[in-house]
Amino acid sequence: MTSEFDTLALRTGIHRSQFGEHSEAMYLTSSFVFENAAQAAARFAGDVEGNIYSRFTNPTVSAFQERLAALEGAEACVATASGMSAILAMAMATLKAGDHVLCSASVFGATVQLFSSIMSKFGVHTTFVQGSSVAAWESALCKDTKLLFVETPSNPLTEIADIGALAAVAKRAGALLAVDNCFCTPALQKPLELGADLVIHSATKYLDGQGRVLGGAVLGRRQVTDSVYAFLRTAGPTLSPFNAWVLLKGLETLRIRMQAQSQAALQLAQWLERRRGIERVYYPGLPSHPQHALAQKQQRLGGAVVSFDVKGGRDAAWRVIDATRMISITANLGDTKTTITHPASTTHGRISAEARKAAGIGEGLLRVAVGLEAPSDIQADLECGLS
Ligand SMILES: Cc1ncc(COP(=O)(O)O)c(C=O)c1O
Repeated sequence: MTSEFDTLALRTGIHRSQFGEHSEAMYLTSSFVFENAAQAAARFAGDVEGNIYSRFTNPTVSAFQERLAALEGAEACVATASGMSAILAMAMATLKAGDHVLCSASVFGATVQLFSSIMSKFGVHTTFVQGSSVAAWESALCKDTKLLFVETPSNPLTEIADIGALAAVAKRAGALLAVDNCFCTPALQKPLELGADLVIHSATKYLDGQGRVLGGAVLGRRQVTDSVYAFLRTAGPTLSPFNAWVLLKGLETLRIRMQAQSQAALQLAQWLERRRGIERVYYPGLPSHPQHALAQKQQRLGGAVVSFDVKGGRDAAWRVIDATRMISITANLGDTKTTITHPASTTHGRISAEARKAAGIGEGLLRVAVGLEAPSDIQADLECGLS
């Protein structure tokens, strides 16, 4: 089979049923029937392959796993009910009480909560470090460090971490490096090729691309993903076949969407940088971005998320949001419809003010996830609140 991205995105994971359907079949069934009792026993014992129950495996979910694994260049993929359940399953499968985690400070708010409030209850302790400083990761290592977790570009400030350098740090420490590849997707960045051990996805975002369903995935070597699968099979946060089917369709247009949305995001970032009333624009494709050179080396394009600080703090930021007429005021991102949010009071509202400050998320910060509308209409909508 070809290794061209677009072809893999359309043609991998197709296993036609006896009906010869062209579009992938959706297997909406909670369980599978056996020919007889002996076959049921053999499947449960793992002596013969075959589906048992959709918490374990489902053909539509397997098709999605196969396709995403091909796109990320991963040996194996395990799909989950959401991005957060992907991070939880990965953590539960790879960590135990007494282990230590290093996590970049600028990550999605629920990821901070998961490591700081939930995993800590089970004796797994986390140190948050500045993602873009390799020295900070190195100096925070300790003998119990088993996992380095990084989001690059980060949500919402698009901070970039050097995946290759962090992979080397993790390797020396005998730890795993997991990269949340939500903002770039494999269309723009392939962490496993850069040396990461695991890739995490919130498939809810660009993999779906149209804001329809929740989903997630953990990808990497089968040896590790097998233990993620074992956790899921027992604990249950698996992907539904319906959502897997929607995501399969999303993957078909992934590269084209990422390219068009990244180009529109760059235009918007350049326009914002020239605009009065803006203190700072965060976009990896801008030469003013502190890790612009690294982003150019590690990513094909800058991605579709642009964040910016408006002068005047929360009041001014909320005025920009409230003046929009087209852009959707919603916390999701990765949609073909442009969305806007105020991270300090929404996606990152539950983390402490100190953690927000450490991550650089101020009261005047806005995050725009650029969609496929005409760039001039997106600019005009933001212009209302900025002028
Ligand atoms: C970077 C990143 N990782 C993980 C998640 C969690 O994904 P989900 O909402 O699918 O659980 C999000 C959600 O916004 C995210 O932005």
